[in-house]
Amino acid sequence: MLNRYYNPVQSFEGPGCTAELTDLLQKMELKEGRLLLLVWSEEVLKLPAFAGLADNGFTVCSMVFHASNPTVGQLFETCQATREFQPEVVVAVGGGSIMDVGKSLCCLYGKALPDEGSLRRLIAEKNYGRPAARWIGVPTTAGTGSEVTCWATIWDPEQDAKRSVENRDNYAFAALVDPELAVGMPTALAVSSALDAVAHAVESYWAGGTNAVSRGLALEAIRTIMGHMDGLLAGTLEAHDAMARGSMLAGLAFSNTKTTACHSISYPLTMHYGIPHGAAVSMLLGPVFRLNAPALDQPAPLLEALGVSGANELEGKIRNILYRSGQPATLQEWGARREDLPHLAQLGMTKGRADNNPVPIDPTTILSILEHIYSSESYNLTQKGA
Ligand SMILES: [Fe+2]
Repeated sequence: MLNRYYNPVQSFEGPGCTAELTDLLQKMELKEGRLLLLVWSEEVLKLPAFAGLADNGFTVCSMVFHASNPTVGQLFETCQATREFQPEVVVAVGGGSIMDVGKSLCCLYGKALPDEGSLRRLIAEKNYGRPAARWIGVPTTAGTGSEVTCWATIWDPEQDAKRSVENRDNYAFAALVDPELAVGMPTALAVSSALDAVAHAVESYWAGGTNAVSRGLALEAIRTIMGHMDGLLAGTLEAHDAMARGSMLAGLAFSNTKTTACHSISYPLTMHYGIPHGAAVSMLLGPVFRLNAPALDQPAPLLEALGVSGANELEGKIRNILYRSGQPATLQEWGARREDLPHLAQLGMTKGRADNNPVPIDPTTILSILEHIYSSESYNLTQKGA
């Protein structure tokens, strides 16, 4: 196996590290100091690291972006609303949705995009060239790892599709991973985000294009996150710090490998039923582990990091974490209809993810996995060895 790894994002991690922002922006040597501050809430703008930017000589355009799972239409509107300002840098402060919109904008400025259709075509053709602006990621939820990847998930409900704005020239100038920004986050969101990061790491470990660096990062990410899950459920700062670090490590791991079957199968579950991304991918970890186990050269370190002996125990552990955080752990509980499963199985074949799984999958395999996680009865049958 040829081990190749590349990630140019300089990262700062630890409580209070957002204080580095002004210094970082000054090092970027912006011509006019024009920056777009894209945030998830008005409250963020009052924090000293962001409130003081105008006093430090920057021309700031602030914009609040509330939506989760951003769509092609929302990205188009945000681009239209900010393109005349011509930001030289986008500072994206929020969860994965905000960072995905922020980094996507850098690829869109300067392009002729008269309507949503032209944006959809640009995303399909991926002909972005060099981005017209740079960006800095400041995650406020520990999970997506978007601050260290060069792709963004943009949803297209009109066409029942999930799209990816991907550009290797569009890594962040820097990532500021400050766990203090996550304190007070609702437990269900914190846990769902953490489980998303676990999935990034696990899938990076077994992905078709994995490498030695990603595997090392992935194992450390899994140990860090799973080792602090009880603390996260209790809302301790120590656990939030661990989640911030673990999520970034997982992001660095999968920035070079992408994800696999869990993510591929999860996208339509989120699009059709609104199941939070992390909850959706985590429900699939156990069944996909069971599928992939025979193809793994080194399953032992992965099982040790997860703190389980096999797929059944992993499935039980994830279900327990979801229930303790107040979230359902079966498709039925999330409101899915059994008759929808064959269609969801067809949609679960996401290009670049399904074909990156170490064991080939097809809609028939996916359907059996979806039936397995549909209700507690199917889960109990597996646990009894049936
Ligand atoms: Fe994810």
